[in-house]
Amino acid sequence: MKIAVLPGDGIGPEVTREAVKVLEALDLPGLILFDGDVGGIAYKRHGMPLPQETLTIAKSCDAVLFGAVGDPDCDALDRHLRPEQAILGLRKELGLFANLRPAKVFEGLEHLSPLRPEIAKSLDIMIVRELTGDVYFGDKGQRGEGDARTGWDMMSYSAEEVRRIAHVAFRTSRARNNKLRVTSVDKANVLETSQVWRDAVRAAAEPHPDIELSHMYVDNAAMQIISNPDQFGVILTGNLFGDILSDLASAAVGSIGLLPSASVGERQTEYGTFGMYEPIHGSAPDIAGQDKANPMATVLSVAMMLRHSFGREAEAVRIEKAVEKALADGIRGGDLGGSHGCEEIGTAVRERL
Ligand code: NAD
Ligand code: IPM
Ligand code: MN
Repeated sequence: MKIAVLPGDGIGPEVTREAVKVLEALDLPGLILFDGDVGGIAYKRHGMPLPQETLTIAKSCDAVLFGAVGDPDCDALDRHLRPEQAILGLRKELGLFANLRPAKVFEGLEHLSPLRPEIAKSLDIMIVRELTGDVYFGDKGQRGEGDARTGWDMMSYSAEEVRRIAHVAFRTSRARNNKLRVTSVDKANVLETSQVWRDAVRAAAEPHPDIELSHMYVDNAAMQIISNPDQFGVILTGNLFGDILSDLASAAVGSIGLLPSASVGERQTEYGTFGMYEPIHGSAPDIAGQDKANPMATVLSVAMMLRHSFGREAEAVRIEKAVEKALADGIRGGDLGGSHGCEEIGTAVRERL
């Protein structure tokens, strides 16, 4: 079981270290970890955010554990040299077109949510975000100067791209086995891209007549996620809207430091589906290097890895229960109004495994 560990920048190394310790505490046979540089640290060491060597390591493994990238020192670099290109490049190069971002309020932990408890307790959403298309990967550029300076980023989706992510959403809805409900989120009242999206989702839904499909505009969806989350099971959406809505959903759960993610494509290994696993948050430069980050999102990403890439459901649940128990016992980072440090939280989770 080969895993590439790519800690990255800011709090990335801090949260990844704790997640790896949790993984190692399971004592799984045949586990081999490989380290690689990504992001600003890779730029500083190798002159590029995603060195060929890192990509080769990632491709040779069965799964990738990714921390976070982003470094204020690098924000003025040409776009292709910026840390964020590492994650975009890995997603594209590894064919990881489906991003699963579960947002769930743990039972009994409704008080962590800023929502009223009776609303918070019904929040159990799986965001299925398309990850290798949309405005992220279209033609982009700038021209002109002064007031005439203009920037553009082309948004587009082909019916084929929408069909394959829609199938992931329907399969995910079925596997979750609670609410057989998919809400496709778009902006079809304004965008041609979204009209293609909506029509392709409808077509993809035909083999799934028992799954309740509805369509919602993204502005309304942002409002509905916090006012009436009970109506959602799976949210199917594009790259940009999914990015925004998943940060919003994390705040509704309690903190961005709690939300894991899995990015998968079609490649199968001898153990399961190849995937990259990462917290949804970034490198948090404001708290980096101070032992203030909450590693739970990365720890929970390891659980997703064991489930999707290694078929180890029992160990995945063990990790999830350990995190839940740590939270129930009052172990909280600053993001949740507590004072436990990153390392302390990691240790607390391991003690509860
Ligand atoms: P961010 O997610 O890094 O931080 C947003 C806020 O949440 C900050 O106040 C931060 O302190 C807090 N926060 C985030 N994770 C936390 C954790 N685990 N524990 C406690 N608090 C946490 O978003 P940002 O500030 O907009 O971006 C910072 C950098 O990260 C940028 O360079 C951005 O491009 C990058 N970024 C990378 C990823 C990724 O690698 N997947 C994701 C998002 C942003
Ligand atoms: C995320 C991040 C990335 C994204 C950035 C860092 C490219 O915000 O994974 O949510 O926008 O996808
Ligand atoms: Mn994001």
